[in-house]
Amino acid sequence: MASLHELIKIYEQEINNFQPSDAADLENYRIRFLGTKGIVKQLSGEMKNVAPDERKEAGQMLNSFKSLAEEKYNSYANLKQEQNNGPVIDISLPGTPIPAGTRHPLRMVEDEIVSIFEKIGFSVATGPEIEDDWHNFTSLNMPAHHPARDMQDTFYVAQNPDWVLRTHTSSVQARILETQSLPVRVICPGRVYRNETISARAHCFFHQCEGLYVDKNVSFADLKQTLYYFVTEMFGENTKVRFRPSYFPFTEPSAEMDISCTVCGGKGCNLCKHSGWVEILGCGMVHPDMLRNFNIDPEVYTGFAFGMGVERITQVKYQVNDLRLYSQNDVRFLRQFRPA
Ligand code: DAH
Repeated sequence: MASLHELIKIYEQEINNFQPSDAADLENYRIRFLGTKGIVKQLSGEMKNVAPDERKEAGQMLNSFKSLAEEKYNSYANLKQEQNNGPVIDISLPGTPIPAGTRHPLRMVEDEIVSIFEKIGFSVATGPEIEDDWHNFTSLNMPAHHPARDMQDTFYVAQNPDWVLRTHTSSVQARILETQSLPVRVICPGRVYRNETISARAHCFFHQCEGLYVDKNVSFADLKQTLYYFVTEMFGENTKVRFRPSYFPFTEPSAEMDISCTVCGGKGCNLCKHSGWVEILGCGMVHPDMLRNFNIDPEVYTGFAFGMGVERITQVKYQVNDLRLYSQNDVRFLRQFRPA
């Protein structure tokens, strides 16, 4: 039988070579060498067989063997701790950054438009994107075969010729006048659809914000002042506005509103096509016939309405020159709108 001395040498080598791969491995080591029936205990039991004059030396050897076995075990303290408490987490290490998303630029601008109008008492109203002919066209003074329907190329829903993808948010005006009692003062953001070939300047879906205010004694001056307030909030105090006569079937009189160019300040550049002005919305006094369509007496009530394209406002505010960018989801484009 090998002597105690020889056994210690063999086990020492094993200990020196030992490298636990995980906490379970280390635990097996502990049981094998340091456990109650482990090798250190067994070898201590051998002491009684050692000749008395060799006992002192054997005892010293055994002690240093025991220390070696314990030190090895203790040197893997992190694994030990893992075994007791689960994985070791160094809370002083910097965290892994999680890339934060942001709101889409169109959503940011839409929210801004809405909040500007909310400040002066408008509340938000929405309507369906699949709309019937009455709310999208007829009630807005565009009966079938009315030439104004040609202003908008329409997507029809195949199952039912009466259904369209709404071509404008003016359909929400109709729904509001139909269901709410007067006075009403609403801002209606939403997506609209037109059968357009997609290009830098046109898209088959885009976003609008409609405004409607109907009450007693609402005048064109109220319309102008409301929109002027919107422009100064949105584009800054020095922005000028001008109104040009226009035509919409659901307003009379109708106008389009331009603002002084936000890029060149009116001197002339690409955005304003060297005119110094950019058109941002259509507006007018709600047509008396439209009020009558909803049993509202135009002798008692008057109102104004306006409609603006959210893409257009975003383009003017941030000089985006290609409508397709909004729906391509290119993060290099989207990241530029991250709030500071
Ligand atoms: N619905 C019109 C369009 O899509 C925009 C518009 C013009 C809305 C005048 C209005 C308005 O409410 O009064 O082109």
